[in-house]
Amino acid sequence: MIKKGLLIVSFGTSYRDTELKCIAPIEDAAKKVFKDFEVGRAFTSKMIIKKLAKEGKIIPTPEEAVKKMADDGFTHLIVQPLHFMKGHEYQKKIIEPLLIYKDSFEGFAIGDPLLSSDSDFDQVADVIGDLSGSVNGEPLLLMGHGTDHPSDSVYFTLQKKLYDAQIDAKIATVEGSITLTKILPDLLKNGPQAVHLFPLMLVAGDHARNDMAGDDDSWKTVLQSEGIEAIPHLQGMGELMKIRQIFLRHIRACKKELFP
Ligand code: CO
Repeated sequence: MIKKGLLIVSFGTSYRDTELKCIAPIEDAAKKVFKDFEVGRAFTSKMIIKKLAKEGKIIPTPEEAVKKMADDGFTHLIVQPLHFMKGHEYQKKIIEPLLIYKDSFEGFAIGDPLLSSDSDFDQVADVIGDLSGSVNGEPLLLMGHGTDHPSDSVYFTLQKKLYDAQIDAKIATVEGSITLTKILPDLLKNGPQAVHLFPLMLVAGDHARNDMAGDDDSWKTVLQSEGIEAIPHLQGMGELMKIRQIFLRHIRACKKELFP
């Protein structure tokens, strides 16, 4: 008997509306496309798991979910992260704890995060091109999360793709090496009147609401203090069909690996 599981793992969010717009639709799309798989959910953020547990909503960690799927007799398991790169979350909360369970399954595969292959970068650049088109080509400022892990380089790679495609979009990060301060002179160089802010993150959660669009010490207020009209868009990347399709493609690659 073959029993196939697909575990979709995100950092998670405690904001219900962005969860419904950015995470649930990817899971629903996966259920439709991979009909012979039972689709499950896990979050990597312990903080969010704890917060939701207080509201009576129980979400497992990837390790808890995979252990349970092994106990429940799943023979094949695909784990697809909705993370953007192979950083700390991916290594320490997905790869390291889950590889221990590899032999509990006949087939086991972990999918790539969003920004992995060259075609991933091309497709995400294309999505940002669409965003740029949606605001009539006015300059964009994208808020990436950023990390002190070497995978922070994804933002440089993506920025280069945007330059090459002549898309007027600058990336800066909250916790990575490309800070807003660093790119501000470049952003202001052509004297823009207005700048559109978008999160370069799966969901529009705390960072988007507070650090990007908040009224207190946010990227919006930094731009305003430079005399620029800052227009924040609280739209997680998970809302966009083309982003969802990249994740589905990564799942499909795992399926091919398990069932050639
Ligand atoms: Co953060």
